[in-house]
Amino acid sequence: MRTIQSGKGMVLGILGSGSGSNMQAILDAIAEGSLRARIALVLSDRKDAFILQRAERHGLATGVIDCGSWATKFPDEVQQATAERLLAAGVEWVCLAGFMRMIKQPLLAAFPNRIINIHPSLLPAFPGVAAWKQALDAGVGETGCTVHWVDEGMDTGPVILQGKVPVLAGDTAELLHQRIQQLEHRLYPAALQLLSQRENHQN
Ligand code: GAR
Repeated sequence: MRTIQSGKGMVLGILGSGSGSNMQAILDAIAEGSLRARIALVLSDRKDAFILQRAERHGLATGVIDCGSWATKFPDEVQQATAERLLAAGVEWVCLAGFMRMIKQPLLAAFPNRIINIHPSLLPAFPGVAAWKQALDAGVGETGCTVHWVDEGMDTGPVILQGKVPVLAGDTAELLHQRIQQLEHRLYPAALQLLSQRENHQN
């Protein structure tokens, strides 16, 4: 049985496939003292993902998740190995930050109620890829981002925190994604701090 060391702050593992700006926002919140946490391990399924370079610049432990020739699948045995790496690094909370593969058992089983994702829409609207583009194409007046618990579905787990942004006349997909990301960078650390406080109250 693992002991959750909430008194010392959250021990985070980050999984990402892209630029890692959300991981950077988490690091910035830790540095400025608004989030009591540390990042123990950063893993990516893309060996050339910028998130790994960012993490290395900050002296963080990094690793590549090797899914072989599978472009989007996250095979069970690779999920098992990923869970073992995270546990061996002392990770207590797994944060998906632009990680583009579906999480299933056995990773879910290794971190029950401890895997969190950020998604660039007001879930349950626009799950899946390029949610900002889906919002633009649908012609909605506002969209946003959601921090939620991860379950076996695609962006279906219970919501922890949401924030809204307007869709403005003349928006391109890129402009809208930038506006959503500015909010993500505040929302993700805030959601983690909220979870940390909840945990401390329960202990
Ligand atoms: C973020 O906008 C995140 O919400 C999105 O990928 C981007 C990653 O950016 N995630 C998803 O779409 C997951 N379904 P980052 O690598 O700069 O943090």
